Amino acid sequence: MLRTHTCGELNRNDIGKEVTLTGWVQKSRDLGGMTFIDVRDRYGITQLTFNTDDDESLRSKARELGREFVIQVTGKVIERSNKNPKLPTGEIEIKVSALQVLNAAKLPPFLIEDETDGGDDLRMKYRYLDLRRNPVRNNLVLRHKMAQEVRKYLDGQNFLEVETPVLIKSTPEGARDFVVPSRMNPGEFYALPQSPQTFKQLLMVSGFDRYFQIVKCFRDEDLRADRQPEFTQIDCEMAFIEQEDILNLFEGLIKHLFKAVKNIDLGEVPRMSYADAMRLYGSDKPDIRFGMQFVELKNASLSNDKAPATWKGSGELSFPVFENADVVVGINAKGCAHYTRKQLDELTDFVKRPQIGATGLIYMRHNEDGSLKSSVDKFFTPDDLQKWSEAFQSAPGDLILVMAGTGDKVRKQLNELRLEMGNRLGLRDKDTFAPLWVVDFPLLEWDEETGRYHAMHHPFTSPKPEDIALLDTNPGNVRANAYDMVLNGTEIGGGSIRIHNRELQSLMFKHLGFTPEEAQNQFGFLLDAFEYGAPPHGGIAFGFDRLCSLFAGLDSIRDVIAFPKNNSGRDVMIDSPSTISNEQLDELKIKTAL
Ligand code: AMO
Repeated sequence: MLRTHTCGELNRNDIGKEVTLTGWVQKSRDLGGMTFIDVRDRYGITQLTFNTDDDESLRSKARELGREFVIQVTGKVIERSNKNPKLPTGEIEIKVSALQVLNAAKLPPFLIEDETDGGDDLRMKYRYLDLRRNPVRNNLVLRHKMAQEVRKYLDGQNFLEVETPVLIKSTPEGARDFVVPSRMNPGEFYALPQSPQTFKQLLMVSGFDRYFQIVKCFRDEDLRADRQPEFTQIDCEMAFIEQEDILNLFEGLIKHLFKAVKNIDLGEVPRMSYADAMRLYGSDKPDIRFGMQFVELKNASLSNDKAPATWKGSGELSFPVFENADVVVGINAKGCAHYTRKQLDELTDFVKRPQIGATGLIYMRHNEDGSLKSSVDKFFTPDDLQKWSEAFQSAPGDLILVMAGTGDKVRKQLNELRLEMGNRLGLRDKDTFAPLWVVDFPLLEWDEETGRYHAMHHPFTSPKPEDIALLDTNPGNVRANAYDMVLNGTEIGGGSIRIHNRELQSLMFKHLGFTPEEAQNQFGFLLDAFEYGAPPHGGIAFGFDRLCSLFAGLDSIRDVIAFPKNNSGRDVMIDSPSTISNEQLDELKIKTAL
């Protein structure tokens, strides 16, 4: 070995020892007769000293070292006169007797320090240098620890880690596939797995019973802070279980991770139906770190005796925006009555942005003196506003924000406003963790673009037995045995109890618009397998990158991935995707239009 110790481990107990260290030059300082060098490796930083007693060639060699040179030094551990209590090695330094440059380094394009001057693009281009920085490296250390704890927990529960192939055939999970041409089968393509879904189900047919894999998945979809084209799942499947077993076992996994990695005792994870999540938060992944639940003033889908009628003013004029809406719904932003006109205009602009697409925002201030003042006073009497106040349980100082529109569309818009208000009010603290199970998802969702139903989770998800009859009459109302785990407003995992019977799976494909030939062609292997003794089974997959970024308190999953892609799906370091040679194209029998 080129070293006797790492740069993070020497302390006052080692004083007097002769040691050899290796690492990168973090910085050097020349102070009168002394030269100080900080040498860094993965484990920490140690101070090296050279002084006037040393032979001149050694000191001048030390003075010539540039940032990020790779060096090897031998010397004696001595007590430091100027101690640094912030460093574990801060009580000692090495009085160097031999120095060797193992490799010189060009000046790095940005500072290799916790606070760097490098912008995003530059750091991505030189990601291998960015990874030398403590905060970035620590994220990967955390990721490693999480992966070990996942394995420990699942191994302890009798799960087997089985690898599934990467060159497969398309599995629909709602995104586009990345495809790979096959040289040996010209004109044919493999697809990279969007998830190992069908393979893990086949492993259940094989009798594996409890499977898991920490596995790369590939989805060609538009990228966001919590999406990468290749990402990692903790993918799991179990046989002979019911939904309740899965929820309990994987609640156990999350609790184990919080305890082992963050020493947090997570209480019982609450559960909420999809219907309640949409009604109370306008989202299937509500951030329940804070309340601010929706209050409905109007809901045309409810029967007359249940529908709230607070939207109807008692004055002469009726308010057409409320009149024409299916749903009038709002939130109480506590303590925000002091918002100025400018701030309220900002919020209105926020909800009108094309990404949100609302038509407007109505507000009512519950002033400190108890008076109520709305932006639509001419349509509503003080008594009407009093009823709003009761509905929202507002107190002096509160601000009521109301939106009107159609069904879940307006609820989703209000969800964005609720999250924005949560941010503004500091209610979304990164060190508070509020997990939630969302259960009873609809089986199907209507897709305007294609004019047909799509599987909300995936086509292998089983409908609730009591809702199967609705498939023919009211498919949109069929509920699935499907569940998501949500953490602080992010979907960190999702799964379902699967169909394990050929007839029901064929019926599902039919409802999803597959002809029997198409279903056989794409999924014949699975349908056939169901005829050879498929056990009842179900599973879940967690987004491992998302879980790690939440544990690390980060906004983007990129920061927990060693070599991530940018927002255009490019790896700017290796410059990929890139063109390939004509020879390669010819071999693959691919003709280009270029
Ligand atoms: P699903 O599609 O819900 O389910 O994916 C499971 C979890 O993977 C994470 N995830 C992503 N993370 C980063 N980038 C992406 N592009 C991305 N897409 C998804 C999410 C999500 O909750 N086969 C099923 C699971 C099952 O039914 O068992 C599946 O893949 O955190």
